[in-house]
Order: sequence, then structure tokens, then C-alpha cells
Amino acid sequence: MKKLSCIFFAVSALAISAPVVHAGGAEVYQTCVECHGANAELSAMGKSQIIQGWPATQIVEAINGYKAGTYGGPLKALMKVQGDKLDDASIQAVAEYISGL
Ligand code: HEC
Repeated sequence: MKKLSCIFFAVSALAISAPVVHAGGAEVYQTCVECHGANAELSAMGKSQIIQGWPATQIVEAINGYKAGTYGGPLKALMKVQGDKLDDASIQAVAEYISGL
């Protein structure tokens, strides 16, 4: 019985931490920092536009475009992976966070 509840705990912990859903904007943005910079001031991998100062609507459109395959440059596949981890609420939250940086 003890072993079973341990397994159950491990599985539910995984379920909670796996995809980033309904997280706050600042929290979601932590997954973007390595490429876009702590203040969105970097050109990610030397290829992206600098998204600091972008309005939230433009960021939402870009991410949804990456997800749909209708937006992007040579490294768009990489951003599709990032976008696919996020639901609409998380995209909105992170876009608002970035626009305020
Ligand atoms: C592994 C590096 C990496 C991570 C992590 C990453 N990005 Fe990107 N991002 C890129 C690259 C590279 C591009 C340019 C892709 C292209 O269109 O060729 C890009 C482009 C973008 C653009 C559009 C800018 C443009 O050039 O048109 C936005 C908006 C964006 N990223 C937001 C985010 C957000 C929000 C996150 C976190 C949820 C994130 N990115 C995570 C590398 C990354």
C-alpha cells in the first residue's frame, strides 16, 4: 500500500509539472529567458527580432502563427515547439508580461 501511494504521488507530481498551463506570465517567461534574454532584449539565437517593446497583441499573433505554421523565419520550427507547450491563457499572460518589460 505504501509503495502504491508513492507511485501515485510521483505520477500526480509529474502531471502537474509537465506542460505549462495557466501559469502566470512571469513564470511562463522563465522558459523564454535563455533565448530572448531576461528583459526580452536579445535577438534569440541571433535570428529573431528583439521582442522587447512589442505590444501584447503582436506577441500573441506571432506565437499563434508559429503554432499554426503561418508565421516565422528560418527557425520557426523551434518557436513552434515553444508555442505548442502553451495554451491560450498562458500565451496571453506571457505576452502581457513581455510587453511590460
Ligand atoms: C530555444 C530558444 C528559444 C526559446 C526558449 C524561445 N524562443 Fe522565441 N524565438 C526564438 C527564435 C530563434 C525566434 C525566431 C524564429 C524565426 O521566426 O525564425 C523566436 C521568435 C519569437 C517571436 C517572434 C519574433 C520574430 O522574430 O518575429 C516571439 C514573439 C517569441 N519568439 C516569443 C517567445 C516566447 C514568449 C517564448 C517563451 C514561451 C520563447 N519565444 C521561447 C528562440 C526561442
